[in-house]
Amino acid sequence: MALRRFDNKVALITGAATGIGRATALRLAAEGATLILADRNVEGVEKVCAEAATSFGVRADAVGYDAADTASARAMVDKALALHGRLDSLINNAGIYRRDHFAKQTGDEWALVFRINLESVFHIVHQALPALAASRGNVVSTASTAGIDGIAYAAAYAASKAGIIAMTKSLATEYAPKGVRFNAICPGRVRTEIGTGLQPIDDQDPAISVRPSKLLGKMETGEPEDIAGAFAYLASDDASYVSGAVIVVDGAQTVG
Ligand SMILES: NC(=O)c1ccc[n+]([C@@H]2O[C@H](COP(=O)([O-])OP(=O)(O)OC[C@H]3O[C@@H](n4cnc5c(N)ncnc54)[C@H](O)[C@@H]3O)[C@@H](O)[C@H]2O)c1
Repeated sequence: MALRRFDNKVALITGAATGIGRATALRLAAEGATLILADRNVEGVEKVCAEAATSFGVRADAVGYDAADTASARAMVDKALALHGRLDSLINNAGIYRRDHFAKQTGDEWALVFRINLESVFHIVHQALPALAASRGNVVSTASTAGIDGIAYAAAYAASKAGIIAMTKSLATEYAPKGVRFNAICPGRVRTEIGTGLQPIDDQDPAISVRPSKLLGKMETGEPEDIAGAFAYLASDDASYVSGAVIVVDGAQTVG
């Protein structure tokens, strides 16, 4: 029998228009979740909502959201609560990747990566916590293996993802008495739009910044669907005793 772990559960997913967020949305929809899908790409999330409704018969609402804008984060959570009056899972997934020689990066670029990848999560979680405490719900945030191991030419990105990991563990401890779980997933390289158009920085680049997955061929990447199952597990009651966990999903890219 197919899993139905999200019947009568409401999940809010940011960055759900494409890639890992889209795959996670469809995975939760397949298991019965009611969805609020948020993204700056409104047309994109509207399409994913239509796909979720048509393929799985669930209710899915699209919300325009800009992770760079504090007010937008608050409005998104408020809209989700106005629609359904509850929130069971919050999946913080919207993110950007910027890379260049560290010496060429500006303070403004560093700040933008932090604002979108990390600070936005502060504002969303702040706004969502009362509802999550009421439902004894959970938060799953998208970090990265870069947040554990670092990555050449993307120090701001790696540092923002390390921040997600530290925040996840800290909040898991602080909110355990209220029954709210916090976990993070660290994908390795995944074929999504985040890397579209990126050129090698210099001759050294492929050698030092691309570590092949040991489960796949040399230059192959994982697919968004390879990551979605981990989100579904952590957001579900199957993980009711899991909090403060940081799960690497990278096809053995970073071990050995
Ligand atoms: N693809 C990888 O190799 C990889 C590896 C590790 C971690 N990640 C992380 O996975 C998450 C999802 O990325 P993806 O790989 O699926 O790429 P993606 O580009 O397909 O998806 C990112 C989504 O975030 C949205 N987004 C970006 N900036 C936004 C903003 N300011 N406001 C609202 N939405 C915004 C995009 O529109 C898009 O829908 C990111 O946090 C990324 O850092 C990706």
